[in-house]
Formats: sequence, C-alpha cells, structure tokens
Amino acid sequence: MQNIFFQLIKNLPPEFSHYVTLQLLKLNLFTGNNFKDPILHQHLFGFDFSNPLGLAAGFDKNAEVIKPLLNLGFGFIEAGTVTPKYQFGNERPRIFRLKEDKAIINHLGFNNKGTTFVKKKLKKLNLSSLSKGIVGINIGKNKETLNDIDDYTYCLQELGPFAHYVTVNISSPNTPGLRELQNRGRIEKLVQTLQKKQEEMNSLENTPIFFKIAPDIDEEQIRDIALISLANNIDGLVISNSTIERFDTLKSNLNNEIGGLSGKPLFLKSTMILRKMYTLTNGQIPLIGVGGINNALECYEKIKSGASLVQLYSALTFEGPKIINKILIDLSNLLKTDGYKNIKEAIGKEI
Ligand SMILES: Cc1cc2nc3c(=O)[nH]c(=O)nc-3n(C[C@H](O)[C@H](O)[C@H](O)COP(=O)(O)O)c2cc1C
Repeated sequence: MQNIFFQLIKNLPPEFSHYVTLQLLKLNLFTGNNFKDPILHQHLFGFDFSNPLGLAAGFDKNAEVIKPLLNLGFGFIEAGTVTPKYQFGNERPRIFRLKEDKAIINHLGFNNKGTTFVKKKLKKLNLSSLSKGIVGINIGKNKETLNDIDDYTYCLQELGPFAHYVTVNISSPNTPGLRELQNRGRIEKLVQTLQKKQEEMNSLENTPIFFKIAPDIDEEQIRDIALISLANNIDGLVISNSTIERFDTLKSNLNNEIGGLSGKPLFLKSTMILRKMYTLTNGQIPLIGVGGINNALECYEKIKSGASLVQLYSALTFEGPKIINKILIDLSNLLKTDGYKNIKEAIGKEI
C-alpha cells in the first residue's frame, strides 16, 4: 500500500508531491519496520540515538510531522529551517527533480510558517512524551531582516527549549548574504552571541547548538571554521548543505536551474569537506555528515570519514521510505563484517 502511494506521489510536480506527502504523513499512512540493532546505538550529546540516520532539514520545515517521520525508522529528525517571521519564499516553480542524476535543485528561500507557529507545534509534540527519536530544530534569518544575529538569537531563544538540539543554518544558498556568515569575523560573533544566550537561559542548558555549513567553502574558510569551532568549543557541525556548483557529470537538462543542488552528485564534494574538517578538528568536534547518501555504503563512508551521525533528504524523494530500513540493515551488516562491536568505533577510521 505504502509503495503504491509512493509511486503515485513521486511523479507529481515536486512541490505538490511534497505537499501531498506531508498530508499523508499527518494521516499516519506511512510506517517503517523500525529496524533496531545495538550496534547502531550511540549516546551522544546526552541523548540516546537508536541509529545514526536522520532526516535532514527542509523536509518538515514547520515541525508538523515529526512523529510520523520518526515512525518511519529515522533515529532523528531535523525540522526547519524556521525564521522569526512567516515567509512565502521565492516564486514557484522552485524545486526541480533531476531524475537522471538522482539530484534536486531548489531555490525555495526559507518558505516557512515562522517561529510562533513552529513553537506551538514543538510544544504540542512534547519531547519528554516521545517514546523514541531525537528532534532538532534548524534556524535561519528572514530575508529582509536588518540584523541577522538578532534573528538567530530570537529563534534559539523561542525554539531551543522545545527541541533536543538546534542547528544554525548559515549555508543555504537561497537567502542573500546568509553564506557570508561563514566568514571568520562573522561566524565567531554569531557563535559567541548564541553561546551567551545559551548560558543566560536555564532551559537551553542541555541543548547543543550545531552550525550547518556549505560544501562551497575554500581551504581558508574550512581552516577558520575548524579553529573557531575548537576555540569556542562548539557542540557540532553539520556538513553539508546543498551546493551551488554544477558538475560536468550532470545529465539532466534542468541542471541550469538556480539554487542548491543536492542528492547523489553532492556526495563526493560534501564528504571531502567532512573529511577535512574531521582532520582539522582532530576528531574533537562531533560531525553530522549530509550530502548525497543513497545507500548504506555511502552512509558508512561518511562515518569512516568522521561523521558521528548522518542525514539524508533527496534519496527519500527518489526511493521512498523503504530506503531507511534498508540502509540501517545493510549498515549494521557492514559494521559486523568489518569486526566492529559498535558504530562509534568506525567513526573517522578512514582518515
Ligand atoms: C527541497 C529541499 C529543501 C531544503 N531545505 C533546507 C532547509 O530549509 N534548511 C537546511 O538547512 N537545508 C535544507 N536543505 C538541504 C538538506 O538539508 C541537505 O543538507 C541537502 O539536501 C543534502 O542532502 P541530500 O543530498 O541527502 O539531499 C534542503 C534540501 C532540499 C532538497
């Protein structure tokens, strides 16, 4: 039944297909087999991750279907990106499926219902009543804001207390000026301002703050971010967002659409940044590897390149929810074949 739904949905125009999927999830029409194996379990940031596979930000922008998504078998869900105020985003069409490349290009531009709406959703979800799964909230800034750091601080203060962790998105290619926050002076100020807010609020005491970076950063930026992460003892980095690069290997004639490219072609580029960051931070900063994961081998490669956890998005739209359990089963077998007792032992083993 689930498969029939998915086959129907995946051929609808991309944004409509996403809308229909959200409605079906709200009706609890999708479920997973919820594969469990202690080899995949990790205690990280004070939380229990039953498996390392999460859903990347952008799918559940308004935190409306977190529970049904956890029921599919993900170990964690990152909702958002949420901005302080409601935003329509860019003009449609703004999502393009590059079928031949198993890739997506989007220039959504942070379409979301804003902090007040999402806060209500997260409160209703009530973390302490969740029987499984970890919930993160990804935060951003409004396009027209006058002070971007104020936007992030506000989102952290409003939403952080109702999530297990917060990811600060400074890497979406579709909001003008956002990626400049990755530059040395800017990121340091942002990190320190958010950490100060965290210290001031008791309800954020146990809420780690991650920073999500782009795959399109140069060697100097990678080094700067590594140094700043170490110097400020940041909780984690999410590597990476979509890319503005257009690879020569792309076959689809939609490859010239504007926006961030995600999916299979992003795998090598995002994994290279992940690997460099792991080396430069001496494995001291937990990393979440995202970008182009389609199967367990790619998941495993991210882990061996330094990721403690991984996320995917595009592959879910091409393969459907069955991909989650398939990856988990195959990953557990790969770890056992290599003689590991727990996934933790494999992190950074290929550096
Ligand atoms: C349609 C779409 C919307 C996205 N929206 C967001 C977003 O709001 N915030 C964010 O941090 N990343 C967003 N992303 C990026 C993903 O979280 C992820 O970093 C990227 O797609 C790479 O993973 P993948 O290759 O598995 O898709 C979006 C991706 C897609 C395809």
